Amino acid sequence: MYINNKHYRTIWPDPRCQYVEVIDQTVLPFRFAVVKVQSLAMMVDTIKTMQVRGAPLIGAAAAYGMALAMSADDSDISLTTAAELLIAARPTAVNLSWAVSRMVNILKPLHPLKRNLAAWKQAANIAEEDVKQNQAIGQHGLALIKEAYDGSPFNILTHCNAGWLATVDYGTALSPIYAAHDAGMDIHVWVDETRPRNQGASLTAWGLAQHGVPHTVISDNAGGHLMQKKQVDMVIVGADRVTADGDVCNKIGTYLKAIAAKDNDVPFYAAVPSPTIDWNISADEIKIENRHEDEVLYMAGLNQDNQSAVFRVVAEGSTALNPAFDVSPARLVSGIITERGVFPPSFLRHLETQLIKSDVG
Ligand code: MRU
Repeated sequence: MYINNKHYRTIWPDPRCQYVEVIDQTVLPFRFAVVKVQSLAMMVDTIKTMQVRGAPLIGAAAAYGMALAMSADDSDISLTTAAELLIAARPTAVNLSWAVSRMVNILKPLHPLKRNLAAWKQAANIAEEDVKQNQAIGQHGLALIKEAYDGSPFNILTHCNAGWLATVDYGTALSPIYAAHDAGMDIHVWVDETRPRNQGASLTAWGLAQHGVPHTVISDNAGGHLMQKKQVDMVIVGADRVTADGDVCNKIGTYLKAIAAKDNDVPFYAAVPSPTIDWNISADEIKIENRHEDEVLYMAGLNQDNQSAVFRVVAEGSTALNPAFDVSPARLVSGIITERGVFPPSFLRHLETQLIKSDVG
């Protein structure tokens, strides 16, 4: 992604493998800052505080967290402790435990002296694969949009942030949107603000603006009304975990959009790289992260003097509940856009077969 004509990824290693740099997503869109992550503890904190966020990105960040741990201590105990700490940082996105397990499976059999180098190499592979997968998702999603596009303005609704900031680059749900815009199509995006943390308003809108894609931020409750008024041609969201049956776990509020889409015959797609698919879990087994009530009780933004500020929006004396994700059942999902093509939910097992075959090959 380009910001002021400079190409950025969301995460990159120091060339001497001594630290990792990440874009701090907690200060966007009003400030652009890069954070130097120098230890496993810092990486765990970066994930927990959501300086890095989005399923594929926290997978790549966790892989680099394992590399930082191996630089400090390459013992078996360090390997196990690092894996446990990283996996516990956030529970819902499967990419995190997927990346950590892949790192452990590669590092554990190695002599400790070989682990450091191998860890940095493997973390870089995971990041590189994410970029390629998201680029391919863009092309498969573009084909879908082309099929539905008739030359008149095409309105896509998205929820939360599944743009390049949620991945190493390109994004998942927004990758087809950037591709369609770049292909000259007349695309307009409805951006759900995505309370309570407002990733839509603060990150998706900013990312689309950087790329020059026309968009409008809407309140979370506006989507159903816009669908009834025929102002939404397609919904594309990302996901934190997709079951083998095609149930889509994504940011809280996605489910309501999926229901509204079904009721209004609007196609509803989830765009996910294959590491986001958990082949071994059912929808009701997915652990939904419950976050602190302050995210609901307060809102962050700029005050009238253009200073960062936090505002309480609920009277003292009330409490809040803050489940961060929900599950849209497969029956509401038109298709899963992956790096290997678009699969109806009931055909997702075919993707697993393809992946196993290419692993063996
Ligand atoms: O809590 P977040 O901001 O990490 O949640 C992110 C989402 O729900 C995204 O939609 C999801 O990770 C898609 S990833 C491209």
